[in-house]
Amino acid sequence: MNAFIQGLPKVELHLHIEGSLEPELLFELAKRNNIDIPYDSPETLRRAYEFEDLQSFLDIYYQGANALRTEQDFYDLTWAYLERCKADNVIHTEIFFDPQTHTDRGIDFDTVINGIYRAMQDGHDKLGITSQIIACFLRHLSEESAFETLQSVLNHQDKIIGVGLDSSEQGHPPEKFKHVFQQAKVEGLLTVAHAGEEGPAQNIIDAIEMLGVNRVDHGVRCVEDASLVERLIESKMPLTVCPLSNIKLCVFDNMAQHNIVELLRKGVAVTINSDDPAYFGGYMTDNFLAVSNAHSMSKQELAQFTINAINASFISDGLKTEYRAQVEDYLTAYQ
Ligand code: ADE
Ligand code: ZN
Repeated sequence: MNAFIQGLPKVELHLHIEGSLEPELLFELAKRNNIDIPYDSPETLRRAYEFEDLQSFLDIYYQGANALRTEQDFYDLTWAYLERCKADNVIHTEIFFDPQTHTDRGIDFDTVINGIYRAMQDGHDKLGITSQIIACFLRHLSEESAFETLQSVLNHQDKIIGVGLDSSEQGHPPEKFKHVFQQAKVEGLLTVAHAGEEGPAQNIIDAIEMLGVNRVDHGVRCVEDASLVERLIESKMPLTVCPLSNIKLCVFDNMAQHNIVELLRKGVAVTINSDDPAYFGGYMTDNFLAVSNAHSMSKQELAQFTINAINASFISDGLKTEYRAQVEDYLTAYQ
């Protein structure tokens, strides 16, 4: 089963590029940019990655992002992630970045997007991995600040497929951002939002109704509202679930308690994703293995996670057909 999972073609739809910054690269960038880090080695930094909830993680995550300064830094960060994708047989990935985390400390939006985009082009040309970029608004900041960020996104609409909503869910419901999402949609951008990670099921309903999202990020608290689960099944609304993240941030006590397999079997369009792999202890293959080790699953069911992700992705119908065939061929070869 481990070999099957390792070789299975995978599609990632929920990955914060700043959350793929491994301690080793963080130290290298800090040295390059003359930044002091209050840890004496990558190992001691990694040992500090013990979180009790989303906020305790976000505090450390925003601190880590401070090491990113130049276009080359963003290139190196993205390239390192794409090499991990290659190792895990990730064939397509949709990458989040948090523009305000950088613009608020004086880094140009252009510096960030150009570095990420150049690595993605090389990822396509040298590794054969297709990818898209989604810019996320930080929900602990104002809607006015999100509108300013939307303006920068529109200046780079040739590179950015959509906008998302992340950061602290508690106290910052979807409603706070309904105008900026409405405008983003008018401009032709696709939309996603984190909802029902730490926040209530109502946030999932509001993300769908008030923000008009194409996918819900996390969404695992949907089970608290049976009619919502029915609605997700009927509308085929995708959930980008992040199993190892949910354990590290104490959304579930352990992987056996995680509801992703229950949701899959009910017919919800759930997918497996790594969220912030440098902080949560694993990339795509690690997440698949963690779920499979805690729940008895068939190969067909595991492959369904990839099929769901292909269907939920922001690629052309032609490429979706090609990628689905790749998964079917892989399954057939294994049987
Ligand atoms: N930003 C990075 N990872 C996040 C998560 N899991 N939830 C909300 N915001 C985030
Ligand atoms: Zn996330």
